[in-house]
Amino acid sequence: MLVIVTIDGVAASGKSSVAARVAQQLNLPFVSSGLLYRAVARLALKHDVPTQDQEALLRLLDSHALELRPYAQGNEVWCEGEDLTHELHTAEVDAAVSRVAQHSQLRAWVNEQLRALPEPFVVEGRDMGTAVFPQASVKFYLTASARVRAERRAGERTGDVDAVEAALRERDRHDAAQSRPAPDALLLDTSNLSLDEVVSCILKAVPA
Ligand code: DC
Repeated sequence: MLVIVTIDGVAASGKSSVAARVAQQLNLPFVSSGLLYRAVARLALKHDVPTQDQEALLRLLDSHALELRPYAQGNEVWCEGEDLTHELHTAEVDAAVSRVAQHSQLRAWVNEQLRALPEPFVVEGRDMGTAVFPQASVKFYLTASARVRAERRAGERTGDVDAVEAALRERDRHDAAQSRPAPDALLLDTSNLSLDEVVSCILKAVPA
């Protein structure tokens, strides 16, 4: 029986848009694991907590309840009555989040939040098919060339493509330790594929 579809991949490979569309087609909630790392980075910036200090970040999480709310249309992250969602995709958070995601205890905290979510769902991230949901029914790992990813991201935000590409390559280096395909994941290079093509390829792999 279908329980979980994992869609992992490199930064800006289109995971979120793809996972959202796949979830919509399957009538399942979609879960964006990166938002939890982003929310921790946002809280750290807000409260002047150094992102390299894991203990201080964990204390911050003890005193500020973060909650990921997955919906079919997208995810929200709330912190004590405040919706943080719109603050999580800024250049400042982009720059801080990889450092936050390096900490093993913090990763364990994120994974615990994810495993507590009611199944079934479609989840996207870096290590969903490996560390978090190794039992998932269908696993995909998306890649795309750094240039294509930079062009896509520069289109979403204002910024020049060269600078965005350099920042992405830097994030790839930081994320490499966590981001790798599961042995049973299907690899998909999305450089020359449209969103619809990627989505239909994934849906074909989902058992009816
Ligand atoms: O997918 P994203 O850009 O929203 O991810 C934000 C950051 O969190 C990115 O630096 C990678 C990290 N991340 C991670 O290490 N593991 C995940 N499962 C999801 C994201």
